[in-house]
Amino acid sequence: MEETISIAILAAGLGTRMRSKKAKVLHQAGGLALVEHVVEASLKLARPEHVAVVVGHQAEQVTELLQGRGVRFATQTEQKGTGHALACCRQTLAAGGLLIVAYGDCPLLRAETLQKLVASHRKQQSACTVITTVLDDPSGYGRILKNAAGDVTGIVEQKAATPEQLQVREINSGIYCFDAELLWRHLGDVTPNAASGELYLTDMVEILVAKGYRVTAYPIEDPSELLGINTRVELAVADRLLRERTVQEHMLAGVTIEKPETVTIDSGVAIGQDTIIQAFAQIRGKSVIGEDCLIGAASILTNATIENGAVVEAFSVVADSRMRKGAKLGPFGRLRMQADVHAGAVVGNFVELKKTELGAGSKAQHLAYLGDSVIGEDVNIGAGTITCNYDGMKKHPTHIRARSFVGSNSTLVAPVEIGEGSYIAAGSVITTSVPDDTLAVGRARQVDKHGWPSKRRGKPQS
Ligand code: UD1
Ligand code: CA
Repeated sequence: MEETISIAILAAGLGTRMRSKKAKVLHQAGGLALVEHVVEASLKLARPEHVAVVVGHQAEQVTELLQGRGVRFATQTEQKGTGHALACCRQTLAAGGLLIVAYGDCPLLRAETLQKLVASHRKQQSACTVITTVLDDPSGYGRILKNAAGDVTGIVEQKAATPEQLQVREINSGIYCFDAELLWRHLGDVTPNAASGELYLTDMVEILVAKGYRVTAYPIEDPSELLGINTRVELAVADRLLRERTVQEHMLAGVTIEKPETVTIDSGVAIGQDTIIQAFAQIRGKSVIGEDCLIGAASILTNATIENGAVVEAFSVVADSRMRKGAKLGPFGRLRMQADVHAGAVVGNFVELKKTELGAGSKAQHLAYLGDSVIGEDVNIGAGTITCNYDGMKKHPTHIRARSFVGSNSTLVAPVEIGEGSYIAAGSVITTSVPDDTLAVGRARQVDKHGWPSKRRGKPQS
């Protein structure tokens, strides 16, 4: 059996430089909170019960956010340094196997990189392996000190570094793989830093080396993966990079994305093969898009379910709603609050559906508001039709049965029902239910008064 992989995610800090009331790891990039990205990557390597998130600032909110994922939590009430934070998970994590330490503010780190870290750690038979990278500007980071053989002998923080050490451009990412048993045995040997009084996890390197163990570096090429978020400027950079990554993954999986740099797709979104996403589209939340769909330019979809072959034309907005096979929306269409457009139905420009079911093959092509309604199959809703679902106190339902025809500019005052196969004359105000197979005319009859205008103008009749 393979040894246990445990992962500690340090996420107790407030993140002062964010200048926020909210703990840093709760800020979002790429559609998820920073710490969620790290947890997702961790869960690709470790079982949830072997992942511990160290919480401190806004522990309750962080715990609530992550609860569903089955990971464990350790509380660090006072932020006394990275070494202290790790010590807080001692009871939560396994005593043996491998232990990876990651940071909750490092959202770009890939699971594959952690996998490679573990592979390198095993191959080198190290007691500790540190992910490092070489930066043009290493300022702010801990510097990696090595011996002639290339093994790591220590990590020195920027503040404590000698001018010579400051020249080192290989930096400590803060992500490590430890032999768990050795780490837990010696973590107590870390003493408070003379300057800050904090317990630095970086001190473990010297401690292990002094005991005769090997510490190695695992250098990585792409330093962007190690980007730790400290400010909102860095948050925006991470957001862009994460979105770029997501968009690329979808393209490689068979989705066409026009002008991908303008498109936003959240991490939780699924998109089927041969779907086309046009420029400036935003697909957010837990949206699921089928195959061969079109998501038009500048459309915004949140928690949308779009089935195979459905078309969302430009500038449409879909929230918490569903479009079934081959349904069409827009341009300038809006679906919200569990609107459900059945197969082949059409919702055209400037039509809003709220909590409304539109039956298969039915059409509402132009300028309508349909709220709290159930509409059957093959119904035609004329331009300008309005369901008056709200009386100022309560919302009321409208039922429009199959194969009926609602003439243009009709006003349906709910609660009301239009029977199967019935007709509503254009411009009607319908206040009582209409039986099946009936023409309802709910407007005043037209009266023609010949000569009335000339009389008014005082001219003789022509
Ligand atoms: C740390 C490393 C440094 C490395 C850098 C990489 C140490 C002493 N230094 O410095 O070598 O180059 O990361 O980004 O480890 N945290 C807690 N509790 C604490 C302290 C920190 O949970 O008591 C968490 C923070 O929320 C954060 C992470 O640990 O997610 C890193 O802490 P931070 O204070 O940012 O470390 P750095 O000074 O950046
Ligand atoms: Ca930091």
